[in-house]
Formats: sequence, structure tokens, C-alpha cells
Amino acid sequence: MAATGLISESEAWIDLKDHVAEINKTHLRELLTDTSRCEGMIKEHDGILIDFSRQRATQKTMEKLFSLSKEAKLEEKIKKMFIGEHINSTEDRAVLHVALRAPRTEHIFESGRDVVPDVWEVLDKIKDFSDRVRSGTWVGATGKPLTDVVAIGIGGSFLGPLFVHTALQTEPETAKAARNRKLRFLSNVDPIDVARALNGLKQETTLVVIVSKTFTTAETMLNARTVRSWITSALGYVSNAVSKHMVAISTNVKLVKEFGIDPENAFAFWDWVGGRYSVCSAVGVLPLSLQYGFDNITKFLEGAWSIDQHFRTAPFENNLPVLLGLLSVWNASFLGCPALAILPYCQALQKLAPHIQQVSMESNGKGVTIDGKVLDYEAGEIDFGEPGTNGQHSFYQLIHQGRVVPCDFIGIIKSQQSVFLRNEIVSNHDELMCNFFAQADALAYGKTPEELRAEGVPDYLIPHKTFTGNRPSLSMLLPTLKPYTVGQLLALYEHRIAVQGFIWGINSFDQWGVELGKVLASRVRTQMNASRTKGKPVEGFNHSTTTLLNRYLKVRGL
Ligand code: F6P
Repeated sequence: MAATGLISESEAWIDLKDHVAEINKTHLRELLTDTSRCEGMIKEHDGILIDFSRQRATQKTMEKLFSLSKEAKLEEKIKKMFIGEHINSTEDRAVLHVALRAPRTEHIFESGRDVVPDVWEVLDKIKDFSDRVRSGTWVGATGKPLTDVVAIGIGGSFLGPLFVHTALQTEPETAKAARNRKLRFLSNVDPIDVARALNGLKQETTLVVIVSKTFTTAETMLNARTVRSWITSALGYVSNAVSKHMVAISTNVKLVKEFGIDPENAFAFWDWVGGRYSVCSAVGVLPLSLQYGFDNITKFLEGAWSIDQHFRTAPFENNLPVLLGLLSVWNASFLGCPALAILPYCQALQKLAPHIQQVSMESNGKGVTIDGKVLDYEAGEIDFGEPGTNGQHSFYQLIHQGRVVPCDFIGIIKSQQSVFLRNEIVSNHDELMCNFFAQADALAYGKTPEELRAEGVPDYLIPHKTFTGNRPSLSMLLPTLKPYTVGQLLALYEHRIAVQGFIWGINSFDQWGVELGKVLASRVRTQMNASRTKGKPVEGFNHSTTTLLNRYLKVRGL
């Protein structure tokens, strides 16, 4: 590699740049006629099948991407992650979310300490606590069982658990386990979110779980205080109301205690778990076990672990997360497609895209290498998505005829639900999946002017009805959507994102970019308080912010 150390100066990167011209001479219409190419691009592991044949890539492209992975020392970096090296160097932390799903028998070390027993100590505590709450052994301050849970948290302390909860809500076995129970999330500091989360709940039967790695996040702490008041306003006359109705998940036991929560009712995790990678820690496992039972949630952990092992050991040619990561780098850095549409044909996966959006964009939205050198290529991916077929009636127009946006189509073979109508030829699920199969081909093949003419389309409409095709996608089929497969899906995307970051040479595990906005919000908060309590005029901001703030304060009457 050249002296600057940027991967973009490596031979492998330059070779891939040159290779773009060759790929530009092909069209997916032709690439898809090559059966042996297609066969080589369909990969399977533990029930998950991914068809990469609609990527704009050939065997030669794959070889060049593998050379790039060597140049980027991908294998070494994956290994370092699994053995607990402090690869998050700006925070001097290990990146060990994989240890959260390790079986009891495993040994994973961080700074010389085997963390697996620590993980299981917390998991055992969660099992015990969630069993007691679910069975009615742990009761509220007035002796009533706690049937409803409100989990307060934001970002990584919210999106992952919400994704898994949404995926399991309609699955018959987990739905049965959740009968007569509610799980709500409160994330936004917006009072509307508070009202929505508490609507219809009774303090006597509600357990509040405060989820915050740092226990300092402004939104979460304000919401926690608001909900504590909600609890004490109704139950304050009972001495142990807070300790019976509020528990916490945090790495910061000191602040948990200061908040008034009994440390006995705190569930720990560790600084080697990044917030956005924390759904397999108590952050997700506690609220989800309260709702669905601990045994169901261990299956979710097992699914993630299965992909962890595959990622750690499978040769790159068959390694699903590695292939996902390398091809996404190919799309973003070489073919000029910086976005990804995540399109599950499954309503239960409606929160997959928002979760992956955070994991990906907070991890890889960086402008410098891990050593602090300014990138001369763009890292990161713009992720968005919506379940099909809804998305088809929303933003697919742009994907078909506007910008080129690589798509991940995700289909489930056996739906969680079956709706059969006697006079219908296909079931709802089959109809859904017809669209899943059709969309990938529509993007790949498109429709030519010749085809349109042959159909008798008038000349003036030909440009409007032409689809260029040649738009990359991949199709993923999961057998079912159960806790185990939800875990697999999560780990696939987490590791895909790690692969991207390892190739781009960035630190995917810090998030300094979120800090500045927090600091500026705190300055505004100080001014707002000074204006409210001492009538002080707004000062120290630019003309625009001063005008906006003054308008706000005036109309609010502050
Ligand atoms: O602001 C971003 C962030 O720091 C995320 O990385 C994190 O998941 C979220 O805020 C919440 O942080 P905490 O769990 O410490 O409240």
C-alpha cells in the first residue's frame, strides 16, 4: 500500500476502479443468462439463502474484492474483534457484542478476563427477574402483578429492542407467550411520545425499564424523571413504589443508584458493547424476556451466535456477511451507489430498516480513517427501507426509473400468519411473495424500447415507459420468522457493517459525530432556563438562531 495508508491507493482498489469500465459494458440481462455464474452467486448457511446473482458483479469482480479484503487485512480485523482487542481505538475499547450471545461453555477474553461468565450472570439474573414478573411473584407496590412494561431509551437503547419486538409480536409461539402483556417503548423527549407510551396504562400494573448505557442521555433521563413522577403521583403513598416499579439497564451503576433505583434492580452491561450493538445485552434481553419469556429470547441469541460463528470461520467465498459487506463496498465506492434500500417482504420486519439505518449510519458515517487521515473516498451508506409491498406504492418509482439504489429483498418462506380466502387463487402470503420475486427481476431486466414497440406502445410514451434495468439487488430467503431467524438476520447485518468499516479503514465503533449537536442543545437549554427564570435576553447565538429562539419563547410565553 502507498505511503498515505489509504486503501484507495492500494493496487487492489485501483484495480477495482479500472474494472468498473468492464462491468459497465455488461448488463444484468446478459449476466443472468450465465447459469454457472448465477449458481456460484447463490449462497446458503443454516437455512438462510442469499442470491447475489443480481449484483453487477462477475467472478472476476469477486476475486478483485477478495484481493481488496486481503489488502485491508479483513481476516485479521475480524479475528481481532472476536478476541477482544481494543479495535475501537478512539475510545480504547474492545468490540465484543458477539460475546453477548456466546454459549456458557465459550471463553472470550477482554483485557485478560473471560467475559462469558459475566454475560451469563446477567442473563441468569434476567431469567430470574423476568420469570418472577411474568408469574406474578414479583408484584407492584400495591400487590398487583405487573403486566405492562414501558422501556425508556433512545438510539441503540431503543431501536434494536423495538425491531425484535415488532418481529415477534405476530409469531404464534411468542405471541402466545406474550398474552395479556404489553411492551411499550418511550424514546423521544417529545411529550407526545410520553402520552402515547403511557396511554391506557395503570401505574399499579406497570414496570418501567430505564435503558441507557451512559445513564446521562438527556432525552432518556428527562423521560425517566417524567415517568417516575407519573409512578409516584399515583403510588407515592406506598414507600417502595419506585423500587417495585422501576428498574434500570446501564453500565453506570453509580448514576442508577443516584436516580433512586436499587442497584439490586439494575442490570449491567459493559463498555465493550457499543450502544447500537447492544440489543443482545440486557438492553434487549430484559424487556423482550419480560414480554416473551426468557427461553424464547435465548433462541434469538442462539440465532445471532450461529451467524457469528459462520462469520468467524467460513471461507470468504461462502461467508454471507463478508459477501454482503464486500458487495456493498463495490456498489458504494466503485459503482457510485451510496444508498441501500432494505426491503423486507414481511410486515413483522417493519422496524428492521430503522434499526439497521442506525447501526450502519452511526457506525460507518465517518470522514477519516481509524488513524485520523482524511478519506479521499466516501465511507458510509445511506440506509432506508419499508416493507414490500407498501414501499412499491411509495418510493420504488425512483428505484426503477430514477436513481440507482441497490436493494436487499428479504422474503420469508413460511409466513407467521396464514390468511386463506376460499375464492382466491393465491394466499395473501403467496401474493406478497409474487411481488418479492418480481421486483428483483424488474430492476435487473427493465424494459427496452423494442419490447414496448412490439407491445404497440405509441412512440411518445416509449421514453416514459422504458426501464433501463441493470439495477443491482440481492434476494434473501429465510425459512420462517422466529426468534432464532430474527437473531440470524440481526447478526448478518451487524457483521456486514463491520466488514464495510474494516475495508474502508475507519473506526465503525465510535460516534463522535453525535456530540456537537448535544453540546449546542445544552447551550440553548441554559439560555432557555435563564430566560424563563431570570427574564434574561437570548444572547451569544447567530442572528438566525436568536430570531428563532426569541419567536419560540415569545409564543410559548416564556
Ligand atoms: O447519541 C447517540 C447515542 O450515543 C447512541 O450511540 C446510543 O445508542 C444512544 O445515544 C443512547 O445512549 P445511552 O444508551 O447512553 O442512553
